Amino acid sequence: MTEAVRQHELRNGQMLTIQVAEPPFPKFEDKVACWWSNVADSLLAGEFREALKTPYYIGEIDGDVAGYMVLMVPADSPEIGLVEFVITVEEQRRKGVSSALMGALVADFVSSGGLALYLCTTNPHAGQLYERHGFRYHIGDGMRCLAPSASDFDDSFFARGGEGCVRSAHWGDVPKAAALFNHRSPNWMIKDDLTDCFRDTRFESHCINLLKRIEGDRGVCCVLENEARRVVGLAAAERRNNVHEQHVARMSFRIAPAYTDQTGDLLSAVQEGAAEIGISCLETRAAACDLDYQSLVETAGFDYQAMLPDRFQVDGRSEDIVLYSRFLDNAAPVPRTVADYYGGRKEWQSDRVCGQVKPESTADRGRLLFEKYSFGENERSKLNADGHLILPGLLTTDSRELLTNALVHIESKNPWGGTTGHEVGRFAAEYSRYLESLIGHPQMRELARRVLGEDIRFDHCVALNRAGGNSGSTWHSHEYSDDDISLGFVRIFFYINGFEAGDANLKVVPGSHHCRDPKVRAESDDELRSKWIKDRLHPHTQQPLEIEQLSTPPGSVVLMWTHAVHGVNPRKEESDTRWMVVFAYRNPGCPSVARWITPAFERKRINGAEGLMSLY
Ligand SMILES: [Fe+2]
Repeated sequence: MTEAVRQHELRNGQMLTIQVAEPPFPKFEDKVACWWSNVADSLLAGEFREALKTPYYIGEIDGDVAGYMVLMVPADSPEIGLVEFVITVEEQRRKGVSSALMGALVADFVSSGGLALYLCTTNPHAGQLYERHGFRYHIGDGMRCLAPSASDFDDSFFARGGEGCVRSAHWGDVPKAAALFNHRSPNWMIKDDLTDCFRDTRFESHCINLLKRIEGDRGVCCVLENEARRVVGLAAAERRNNVHEQHVARMSFRIAPAYTDQTGDLLSAVQEGAAEIGISCLETRAAACDLDYQSLVETAGFDYQAMLPDRFQVDGRSEDIVLYSRFLDNAAPVPRTVADYYGGRKEWQSDRVCGQVKPESTADRGRLLFEKYSFGENERSKLNADGHLILPGLLTTDSRELLTNALVHIESKNPWGGTTGHEVGRFAAEYSRYLESLIGHPQMRELARRVLGEDIRFDHCVALNRAGGNSGSTWHSHEYSDDDISLGFVRIFFYINGFEAGDANLKVVPGSHHCRDPKVRAESDDELRSKWIKDRLHPHTQQPLEIEQLSTPPGSVVLMWTHAVHGVNPRKEESDTRWMVVFAYRNPGCPSVARWITPAFERKRINGAEGLMSLY
C-alpha cells in the first residue's frame, strides 16, 4: 500500500521519487528485500503488521528502484524505532539516494512522536552518512539517533512510570527490547545469555532471532510493560534441544533498575509458561561480577548450583560463571520421544528390527519395588479395624538389596547426630538417591493411594535401623488431623530383614488408632496396660484393648495409621542390625508436625513425585 510520495532533487539533478509502503506490496515484491532470512517471508507477507509497523522508504529514479530502507516501530507506540536493510543500487550510488531516504525517514519518525532510533553498521561511509542525520555511536557497532525532545532519554525513559504488567512477547516488542537492552543500566557483563549479547554488544535482530527460536513449544518469552507501553523487562527461556534434556531450559532476563521489585512477577510468568510446555527445570548463568543479577534470581527462588571458574574472559582477565537453577512443580509431561530427534530410531524402524525382544534389564528389575500383592476390601477392613496391616515378604529381592545398601550408607553418616532438627536419619531420602526415587515410585504411589485415596502428599522418610543392643522405643502415638477423621496419615514401614518377637519387634494395640489420641506415652508394657489401656474398649468389637507383639518375615511391609499406639522392643545384643525405613504419606488439609522435608528438597524435581511434595 502506497502511503505517501515525495520528490527529492539529487546532487546530479536527477529526481528521486520517495514512496513509503508497508508490506505486503506486490508492486515492490521483487525489488526490495528483508535481510533477516528467518522472518523474511513473514515480514514481506505483512504477517507482523498487527504488532510491528515496517514502512519501507523506497527511492525510485525514472521508475526504477534506486535504494530503500525500512523503519520498524511498534504498532502501539511510536517512541522507539529501528532502521534496517539500508541499500542503494550499485549504479545509483554517490548521488545522495540513501541520505534523501534517511532524511525522510528520520523526519517522519520524529514528527510521529519518535524518541530514539537505532541502527547498526560496519561500513565507515554509511557511518558518516548516519552521523550527518543525527546518529551517534552508542553500543558496539550500534548507533542511536535521539529526537530533539529526547535529550534526557537515558535518564527518563526507563524511570518508574506506574506498575508494570507482564504479558507474552510479540513482534512489536522487537524495537522496544532494543531500547531496553541498548541501555547502559543495568550494567551487566552478560546482557542476554540466550543470544550471546554482552555489555558492549548492541542488541537488535537478537530479539527477532530469540522469538523465532522459542516458537511453538521450544520456549517462552515474556515482557514487563509499564503504563507508557514501554518494555521495562524481558525474560526468555529456551528448551534444550535433545530428548534427555528437553525438560531443561536456559533462562535469561533483563529488567530496568526502576522495576527490579517486579522481577518476581516477570520470572513467575516465564516459569508458568515453561511448566505448561513440559519444562521442569530452568537454568540461568551469571557472570560472577554481575552481583545484582545473582541476587535477583536468588530472590526469585533460583538455587545456586555451581561456580565455573575462569569461564568468561573480558579485558584480558578471567571471570567465573555462576550457575543457578530452579525446579518447577506441576510441569506438563515432556512433549517428545527419542524418535522426534535427529539420530533417534523411528517407530517404523523399530517395527522392522526382526525378532527383537527387549530383554529386561537389571535397571528395570531394580525398579520393581513390590512383589504382587492384593489390597482389596478385606485388607482395607483389617487395616481400619486394627490400625496396622502386615504385607509379608512384599519387597522384591532387588529392592531389598538396594534398600540395604541405602540404609548402610545412611547408617555410615551418624544418622542421629549432627545438626539437631536436620538429622540424616530423619531426612533419609535427602541423603540417598535410591530412597529419594521411592517417594514417587509408581508402586509406592499406588499403595499410598489405595490406603488414602487419590489426593496424597509425601510427609517424611525416616531410617530407623536398630543395631544389636539398641534399646528400642517406648510406647507412643503420633498426631495428624486429630479432630477430622476424613484426613488420613499412613506410615509405610519397610522391614528389609524382618524381625522376630522379642528382638526389636514392633508391638501394637489393635484398635487404638480409633481413639485418635496423639499423646499416648508409656515406658513399659505394664505401664501402658495399667494406665492408657485400662478400661478402654475396642470401638468395633467392644473387647478390651490388648498389646500384640508382632513378627514379620524379611522383606515385609507394615502399614500403620499414624494414631496407632506402638512401641519397639530392644534389639538383642547378639543380633545383627534390623534394617528399616519408613515412608509416610497423608491426605493434605492439615499442618503436619512430622513433615521433615527441607525447602530445597520440596522444590527438587523427583520423578513421579510431582505434586506430592507440598504441605497442602
Ligand atoms: Fe512412632
